Amino acid sequence: MVLKANYRLRRFKPSDLDWVIRINRECLPENYTTLFFMNLYKRFPETFIIAETNVEIVGYIMCRIETGIPSFKMLGITRKGHVISIAVLPKHQRKGIAQALMQETMQAMASYKAKECYLEVRTSNLPAIELYKKLGFEITRTIRNYYADKEDAFVMAKQLHLSMK
Ligand code: ACO
Ligand code: ZN
Repeated sequence: MVLKANYRLRRFKPSDLDWVIRINRECLPENYTTLFFMNLYKRFPETFIIAETNVEIVGYIMCRIETGIPSFKMLGITRKGHVISIAVLPKHQRKGIAQALMQETMQAMASYKAKECYLEVRTSNLPAIELYKKLGFEITRTIRNYYADKEDAFVMAKQLHLSMK
């Protein structure tokens, strides 16, 4: 695991919700209702993961497992893990936390039998795009005006293997 010793990853639990909402509001313009967070947790608990120190929660990742058209050359439909949101508090960034959260969630996606992991990211969000590239994601398409402020999104995807560690 790339994670430093003073950080731990574990599954989200409902008592973490206020922390996760605070981190989401501080780090991203895409914010969600309490119900939205709790629905993701209830449906896909294995892929809702937080990073913490001894004193506070510093990052989270939450995902949805979907059925849809594969991003890579394959016929029919496939099960896909969709990263809905990931964020790490600014003062804890660049320590490998997001990379560890992504790796942990991709393992959990494979346990839900997802064949790929995908996400949307602002075309200007270089830190996040670099993170996903480092993890082996490719840009598969661009969605014009995806965000509320009309910025475009890249869709980035990576194939998952059941043996993934
Ligand atoms: N500039 C360039 N590359 C970066 C940067 C940066 N600022 N941050 C991360 N990376 C790349 C690097 O390759 C880095 O490896 P290195 O440090 O060895 O060079 C690699 O990503 C791993 O970095 P981590 O330390 O694991 O990333 P971190 O914990 O800092 O979190 C994140 C990255 C989540 C993008 C963070 O900057 C953040 O919370 N940003 C605001 C919220 C956000 O943009 N979330 C993603 C939106 S898209 C979505 O949610 C699906
Ligand atoms: Zn999305």
